[in-house]
Amino acid sequence: MTEDLNYPILIVDRIDTFYGQSHVLQEVSLSINGGEVVCLLGRNGVGKTTTLRSIMGLTPPQSGQIFFKGVPVVRKPAFQIARMGIGYMPDDRRIFPDLTLFENLEIARRLSSKEKVQWTFEKVYDLFPAFVDMKTRKGTQLSGGEQKMLAIGRALMKNPDLLLLDEPSEGLAPLIVQNLVEVIGRIRNEGVTILLADQNLKFCRKTSDRGYILEKGMVQHQGMMEEIWQNEEIVKKYLVL
Ligand SMILES: Nc1ncnc2c1ncn2[C@@H]1O[C@H](COP(=O)(O)OP(=O)(O)OP(=O)(O)O)[C@@H](O)[C@H]1O
Ligand SMILES: [Mg+2]
Repeated sequence: MTEDLNYPILIVDRIDTFYGQSHVLQEVSLSINGGEVVCLLGRNGVGKTTTLRSIMGLTPPQSGQIFFKGVPVVRKPAFQIARMGIGYMPDDRRIFPDLTLFENLEIARRLSSKEKVQWTFEKVYDLFPAFVDMKTRKGTQLSGGEQKMLAIGRALMKNPDLLLLDEPSEGLAPLIVQNLVEVIGRIRNEGVTILLADQNLKFCRKTSDRGYILEKGMVQHQGMMEEIWQNEEIVKKYLVL
């Protein structure tokens, strides 16, 4: 996977996405190189989730193009886009409540269409050591934070090249957020490119190389995370600290 470094693995080119009559994304463009961690920032309702859903084919854009590893994906069904190598953790996690932690991971493993298995159970347990003692726990018996980690683990079991994470830090205690920063660093070191949507600027600064700031469904600013962090005007105008 290292050969993908510095080559755009994902290009979103001026997409417009609607919910019914409501025009949500307006000419959103972004580009992510292999190996990068990039974040989508912005307040409530600016279009972060819709951008991720557009990429996954869950809310396909009406116009514009999206290329994953050079292949156009707009109008492909979501399952096919996932099989091409995009993993997705939705903001509501969607863990199967009646299945155990192990079974939730096992289903994802079976859905992996990759010939080369990068993420084994062992590797996922290594990333989340607490899982080892929770294998038989049902989804309903997991805390919100644990479900979030399981949702990440489940996405990894499908061996994605690009991982989309929607609000990974939301609702987590500060210690767990710090843990998640390390987890994201380790996933990236395995060669997985990451696009995350999160409102937490500090979390994005710790995890991401670059950021795109959305407001009213449009990209208002983009830059290196350090530049965004120090840009008081931008932070005040578009973000929450
Ligand atoms: N299913 C839907 N039907 C109609 N409008 C929607 C739907 N989902 C989102 N919207 C609207 O689209 C806009 C963008 O929403 P989106 O969920 O993408 O924002 P977000 O940046 O992810 O916000 P949040 O921080 O709350 O997660 C908002 O105005 C929202 O009300
Ligand atoms: Mg959202």
